[in-house]
Amino acid sequence: MPIKVLITKNYDELSEKAAKIIADAIRNKPNLVLGLATGGTPVGCYRELVRMHKEKKLDFSRVVTFNLDEYIGLPPTHPQSYRYFMNENLFNHVNIRMENTHIPDGMTDDPQKTCEEFEKAIETAGGIDLQLLGIGANGHIAFNEPGSPFNSRTRVVEISEQTRKDNARFFQSIDEVPRQAISMGIGTIMEARKIVLLASGARKADAVAKSVKGPITEEVPASILQKHPNCTFILDEAAASKL
Ligand code: PGA
Repeated sequence: MPIKVLITKNYDELSEKAAKIIADAIRNKPNLVLGLATGGTPVGCYRELVRMHKEKKLDFSRVVTFNLDEYIGLPPTHPQSYRYFMNENLFNHVNIRMENTHIPDGMTDDPQKTCEEFEKAIETAGGIDLQLLGIGANGHIAFNEPGSPFNSRTRVVEISEQTRKDNARFFQSIDEVPRQAISMGIGTIMEARKIVLLASGARKADAVAKSVKGPITEEVPASILQKHPNCTFILDEAAASKL
C-alpha cells in the first residue's frame, strides 16, 4: 500500500492531528496497545494528549504501551533516558498504570534476554495496534540505522555518528551521547497494525521524500513502510517540501 501523506500547516497542527488519531484509537479500543516514540517531534503530540486527558477525560487506565528504544547505559533517572522522557512528557500526567508501560531496560546485565522478553511482552499483549514513529535525517526508524535488515527484531544496535550528532543537542556534549541502544527491529515495527510517522522541519525533507517515493532499500530504513498496509505520514510543510 502506498504511504498515506497528510500535510499540515505547522508543528502545532501536526501535533493535534497525531493526538486526535491516538485519542480516537483509545476511545474505539480502551485497552489499545500503543507503540510510542521519543525525540523532539512527538513532544507536542504528548502535550495534546495530556490536555485531552485533563479536559476531555481521555482514559489511559487500560492502555498498554511499548516504546521503540532506550539508550544502553542510561538509568531511568537520567534526564536523557527515554524512560525519564516518557514519564515527564506523558505518563506522569495521565492515568496510565506504570506497569502497563514497557521500555527496554538500558541498564540490563543481559541485553539478549531483555530483548527476547520485550518481544515476548509485545506478543503476549496481542501485538501493537498503533505505532507512533519519528524519522531520522538519515531515514532511520527507532535506532534502526541505514543498513539494518528489514527482518530485524528487538536487539542491541550501534548508534550512527550522524544520529549521535543529531541527538547531542539534548546532552552537555557529544561525548555523553551513548553509542549503543536497545531498539525494536524493523520486522517488529512492521507488525504493528497501524503506523503513524511524524516529521517536522526541512531537515527531514530528504528522508521523507526517499521513504515515500524512493526505492525500497535497507539504506533508507523508513522506505520499507511503503509495504505496510496501513501507514500514514503526518508532515508539516517543510518536511513535505521535497515530495
Ligand atoms: P527527532 O528524532 O524527533 O528528535 O527529530 C526523530 C528520530 O530520530 O527518529
